[in-house]
Amino acid sequence: MQYLLRRAWHILVLRVLPISANHRQNLLYLFRDPWALDNAKEHHRIRETSLIIRNRIGHCGELLEVGCAEGLQSATLRHNCEHLTGVDISPRAVARAGLLVRDATFMAVDVFSAGPVPVPTADLVVACEMIYLLADVGAAISRLESLGKACLITFMDQATAKVEPFLAERAILGRESISHGDLTWHVVWWNSPRFSVT
Ligand SMILES: C[S@@+](CC[C@H](N)C(=O)[O-])C[C@H]1O[C@@H](n2cnc3c(N)ncnc32)[C@H](O)[C@@H]1O
Repeated sequence: MQYLLRRAWHILVLRVLPISANHRQNLLYLFRDPWALDNAKEHHRIRETSLIIRNRIGHCGELLEVGCAEGLQSATLRHNCEHLTGVDISPRAVARAGLLVRDATFMAVDVFSAGPVPVPTADLVVACEMIYLLADVGAAISRLESLGKACLITFMDQATAKVEPFLAERAILGRESISHGDLTWHVVWWNSPRFSVT
């Protein structure tokens, strides 16, 4: 029942109502957990992503989490770094994230809009399960690269065709997959060209 209500809410907000993309994302958060992240499979993905960061990339100074939602993943990513800044386009989501993770900084910002964004340069920019939601995935990945020295994204297997063409153009440092039941997510990381020593 809850699943059906959430689906109906998604369709209404994302496909029917004539409102801007920013308003859509914020309206979704009128109800808690609109992306159905608080469950065993997503908790598994979140834990495994942090393990990959710890084992393959290492502890970071400043970590920027793009699309932090209500802070569920931020709470785990917080242990991968000295300081975490979480940004999301939804002010409602960011307000909840701030209550959940007290020792991090959260901002309601669209980092993909034109113009400068008020975030510190990160050692690692993490964007999980959000890059494929954007209209221009190539431009979004380039934008992530401008925000930090290295980038890590995750995307569910069903989004592979939308994301992979843009990764082919990059010098990928590592890849791993996470599985839970019949679900698979891909984790990919690379150094930002802008910060690379030539
Ligand atoms: C599916 S949720 C993923 C949340 C979390 N990263 C995770 O993997 O558990 C996608 C999030 O991206 C956010 N988002 C969408 N477009 C955005 C944008 N342009 N800038 C920042 N956040 C955005 C949405 O508001 C939503 O909270």
